[in-house]
Amino acid sequence: MKTFQKLDDFLNFAWAQISRGKVDKKSPARHPTFVTSNSDGFPKARMLVMRRSDRKKNEIEFHTETTSSKMLALEENARAGIHIWLPKVQLQIQMNIDVEVKVGDITIPNWRDVPTNSRVAYGTIPSPGIVIARVGPLPFKMGNPMGTGTNGLNAPAKT
Ligand SMILES: Cc1cc2nc3c(=O)[nH]c(=O)nc-3n(C[C@H](O)[C@H](O)[C@H](O)COP(=O)(O)O)c2cc1C
Repeated sequence: MKTFQKLDDFLNFAWAQISRGKVDKKSPARHPTFVTSNSDGFPKARMLVMRRSDRKKNEIEFHTETTSSKMLALEENARAGIHIWLPKVQLQIQMNIDVEVKVGDITIPNWRDVPTNSRVAYGTIPSPGIVIARVGPLPFKMGNPMGTGTNGLNAPAKT
């Protein structure tokens, strides 16, 4: 395990690992666990893809659906958590984050950066996280091309 003499060095190292999530598909930082608090009092954790990180602005970015349950949870409480485990460097990263939700036209530049083959993951019916009541054919609709059904979640991170 890497050791650090200064807290700043540790923080820089952690951010370097986080930034690998965007560029290295094999990095565990690619798939952080994103935790919100539900109205029933239970936390809810799910995996998201790291879309961008910005060390200087203290921000990380994720994309999701307006209709997903995490959006509802964030309306009630915009404070969330991130967890990443990096086995190679034996480092656990826990972040407290204030989530800034961006919806609609403001997300068009973000949407343009989403690779075409990744876009099909968004704007689907039924929404992700919906409990499927029965086995059988489901209505399925693919995402729209200009991002109006896709949100950017900009999360200024407090580490
Ligand atoms: C490998 C992997 C990557 C995922 N990436 C995303 C993502 O970037 N955005 C997203 O909204 N959901 C993503 N999901 C689905 C979420 O984990 C979750 O099931 C979905 O967003 C619904 O969550 P919610 O009902 O808690 O809002 C991913 C799931 C897996 C297994």
